[in-house]
Amino acid sequence: MALVTTEEMFKKAYSGGYAIGAFNVNNMEIIQGITEAAKEVNAPLILQVSAGARKYANHTYLVKLVEAAVLETGLPIALHLDHGDSYELCKSCIDGGFTSVMIDGSHYSFKENIELTKKVVDYAHEKGVVVEGELGRLAGIEDAVNVSDKDASYTRPEEVEEFVSKTGVDSLAIAIGTSHGAYKFKPGQKPQLRMDILDEVAKRLPGFPIVLHGASSVIPEFVDMINKYGGKMPDAIGIPEDMLREAARKAVCKINIDSDLRLAMTGTIRKYFAEHPEHFDPRQYLGPARLSIKELVKNKIVNVLGCNNKA
Ligand code: G3H
Ligand code: 13P
Ligand code: ZN
Repeated sequence: MALVTTEEMFKKAYSGGYAIGAFNVNNMEIIQGITEAAKEVNAPLILQVSAGARKYANHTYLVKLVEAAVLETGLPIALHLDHGDSYELCKSCIDGGFTSVMIDGSHYSFKENIELTKKVVDYAHEKGVVVEGELGRLAGIEDAVNVSDKDASYTRPEEVEEFVSKTGVDSLAIAIGTSHGAYKFKPGQKPQLRMDILDEVAKRLPGFPIVLHGASSVIPEFVDMINKYGGKMPDAIGIPEDMLREAARKAVCKINIDSDLRLAMTGTIRKYFAEHPEHFDPRQYLGPARLSIKELVKNKIVNVLGCNNKA
């Protein structure tokens, strides 16, 4: 089995009322933890690579590690570029073996976003690769994504039909109140998502796969673990799991998760060193970190995404 695109996965997810997990990968242990979990519960997967991940780990290493995961698991796995910010970056990933790319033109004007996205779609489709576009801007800060609260904006449902028909994108990321990183809501603020916008988008684009970025739940167990073992994270609030389940039952077919993986890995490694200060073999602390990613992903697949037994 080779890497697949998201086409089949999204068709089945839309009609089945579930979502596929799109997990960010940066190294071997993360890829192994995610794919071992998916294997155990027989789930399709999207493994996504950001520009920062590609810079950190190198394009070829990541592609080969993901290909190894396909060989090991036999699962349908798509390799996706997360937040591609230029035609050149998308082209390089398409030429280099990715089966899906995101062109994130959300910081451009509507017209410029259409032009850039269409250019990527034209090239990608010629090569059998699928494309995710974005309308609306999520708040939050990560390596390559930095949008302040005041620059964030919800997706305007009245724009989606024109965007999809003029660009030819295969899926669309929308902004309904999620945001990137661990600090999605202000301390004391009640998490809320604009499900009304999602419903309106779905009405205008029947059967069309919608993507939710910034969808980590910021699992308190791992934030507490980080702080218990020497970390200093302020109050962090994520997206409640029941809201993600609701979105997955609607038109959302892809749910992006990165921060939860980071928290699980870091919490586990901090705990390990607190309990074994004399150890220095990386396998001793990366092994438990990989295992905690595996457990986290299994729980997401079964209890949040609902894509277990859908491979
Ligand atoms: O949405 C962004 C992803 O979490 C990737 O983050 O750019 O720090 O690798 P990164
Ligand atoms: P989180 O920061 O909520 O994990 O979102 C990740 C994401 O959207 C990657 O594109
Ligand atoms: Zn994102």
